[in-house]
Amino acid sequence: MKKAKAKVVITAGPTREHLDPVRFLSNPSTGRMGFAIAKAAVERGFEVTLIAGPVALKTPKGVKRIDVVSAREMCAAAVEEAKAADVFIATAAVADWRPAKCAARKLKKDEMSSVLKLVRNPDILKTVNATVKRKGNSDLKLVGFAAETGNPICEAARKCREKGLEFIVANDVTAKGAGFGASTNRVVILDKFGNRKALALMSKLAIGRRIMSLV
Ligand code: C5P
Repeated sequence: MKKAKAKVVITAGPTREHLDPVRFLSNPSTGRMGFAIAKAAVERGFEVTLIAGPVALKTPKGVKRIDVVSAREMCAAAVEEAKAADVFIATAAVADWRPAKCAARKLKKDEMSSVLKLVRNPDILKTVNATVKRKGNSDLKLVGFAAETGNPICEAARKCREKGLEFIVANDVTAKGAGFGASTNRVVILDKFGNRKALALMSKLAIGRRIMSLV
């Protein structure tokens, strides 16, 4: 049976990697870019699922939202939702590492060591590529973001290749009007063919609309 609407799945916000119930590793992502893309995708008539880390944003109208905390939870939800999706857009600032152990109760200061053992988290885009796109849903289009400090272009081109993306949206998070928490962003879009387009400083919603028109 043909689906009524094309489906887009978006990851947004940070993840939290707990070492006990009250302490975690995370980053300053607010989720604004992902939520703006979700709004733009609804405007375009997509069925939209937004997988959100802990953020303080209202869910855009018409969006199905799945709340998660850790990278592993986000990854599991992403794999599940991507199976029936047409487009997967990863805007989340996923924590690359997590504490090797998470205590069931709050650790006392003197139970903690000054050295925290970490283990790598899964790369969600790579996991979706390997376990969904290459295993059944081959038409799935993957889109990523690259938040860099300094010149984002080289790093972004490498990530576009390595993660099997159609295109990647690169930005320098230290640039004026860009990055975590800002309502605007200045991005460069690089596609898998090596084409590159620099957009002017604009609102995250306007960028979301540009991304959705490319999709
Ligand atoms: O962290 P990195 O710069 O590699 O992120 C690039 C892209 O990969 C982003 O779209 C981000 O959402 C995604 N990513 C991911 N899982 C990770 C790390 C990053 O999906 N563990």
